[in-house]
Amino acid sequence: MWTNTQNKALKARAERVIPGGIYGHESTRLLPADFPQFFRRAAGSRLWDVDDNEYIDYMCAYGPNLLGYGNGKVEAAARAQALRGDTMTGPSDAMVRLAELFVDTVTHADWAMFCKNGTDATAMALVCARAYRQRRKVLLAEGAYHGASPWCLPQTAGGTAEDRAHIIPFRYNDLASLATAVESAGDDLAGIFATPFRHEAFSDQYLPDAAYAREVRRICDERDALLVVDDVRAGFRMARDCSWSALGVRPDLSTWGKAIANGHPISALLGSDKARDAAQRIYVTGSFWFSAVPMEAAIATLHQIRDTDYLERIAHTGQLLRDGLEAQSRSHGFTLRQTGPVQMPQIFFADDPDMRIGYAWTAAAIRRGVYLHPYHNMFINSALTPEDVALTLERTDDAFAELRKTRNGLPAQGDTRVIERIRRAALASVPA
Ligand SMILES: Cc1ncc(COP(=O)(O)O)c(C=O)c1O
Repeated sequence: MWTNTQNKALKARAERVIPGGIYGHESTRLLPADFPQFFRRAAGSRLWDVDDNEYIDYMCAYGPNLLGYGNGKVEAAARAQALRGDTMTGPSDAMVRLAELFVDTVTHADWAMFCKNGTDATAMALVCARAYRQRRKVLLAEGAYHGASPWCLPQTAGGTAEDRAHIIPFRYNDLASLATAVESAGDDLAGIFATPFRHEAFSDQYLPDAAYAREVRRICDERDALLVVDDVRAGFRMARDCSWSALGVRPDLSTWGKAIANGHPISALLGSDKARDAAQRIYVTGSFWFSAVPMEAAIATLHQIRDTDYLERIAHTGQLLRDGLEAQSRSHGFTLRQTGPVQMPQIFFADDPDMRIGYAWTAAAIRRGVYLHPYHNMFINSALTPEDVALTLERTDDAFAELRKTRNGLPAQGDTRVIERIRRAALASVPA
């Protein structure tokens, strides 16, 4: 029987000593009150919350879990290094081996630098692009998430217009909007950021046109500016290379994090020779950036990325889930919008303007041991089996059945004003 006592008690305690009870992308302010916030353990495709409820987990720690929680080879490499030393006076040889492995794996990369979070990597890319030709203007797609730094902060509290003084917004995958933004940068264009596909919370996902990706490349070449692909979220879930490799476009810089060490804290900035001199001149560092354990974990992860069929497997199970939910939702009289690559599902209900149906369905799935998210894209990991998907579908079938009975009397969920504001902003940034 699903219970929520420990979770509720911890949330109440957290609210007294942690502003808001929790922050950032983990914030549960927008989620139904009984969504589990605290977890006790995780293994493979499973997650247990503090009440010991077991879930088939489709959030994968918001991306880092690529090969299954506690992957044997990754953890063995990390444990062996932990016995030898982690944060030391300098890096271990793993730093060089890891850089070599990245250069060997990612086509556009001639060098690598390591940091901790995706935000570190995107901030490094920003500084590197500006250092390249000593220019200031950087183009970001409206609503695109590149981390929690003042230059790209999604919320306004604590941010100033000056923080974004040289950031020029444009609409993703919209060539006319891109051209206008490039013109307004004039001869001060340092770089253009691109996420591999449109994967923002509260909105349907979509892949860019290859023509758009090629045009971004062409503009950067023409203007001698740097193209940055922000692969922090999608990296290694789309390809065993930079995600835009499928479109035939090579960036000058790419940013990585989340999945590259299967959950161990490390991120990376990769670059081509063109950007090497700029990367050498910038000052970037952190007390924990040279720690050896996450580097060994990343090496063990990259070997599995290169040598196993993990990518084909997550594409297969992701497709099974999508097809199963599609048929199931129809049979219960609902229409779903499932968008983006199947390895990173985003699921909304049609005719659900304030998302109360989606919220109720995910909450019903959670109570049945399937951890789904109502407004953020989800992730598939390679420990998830077809049998896990079949079990998921049994449970979601039950959740749909409950929803069918309750759909007319559903209450609105989460902080509806905040949800509405974010949804409007997300919709406004999508080209018609
Ligand atoms: C595309 C993208 N860039 C950057 C970041 C920031 O990464 P982190 O949360 O590790 O700082 C994220 C996080 O979700 C992301 O999705």
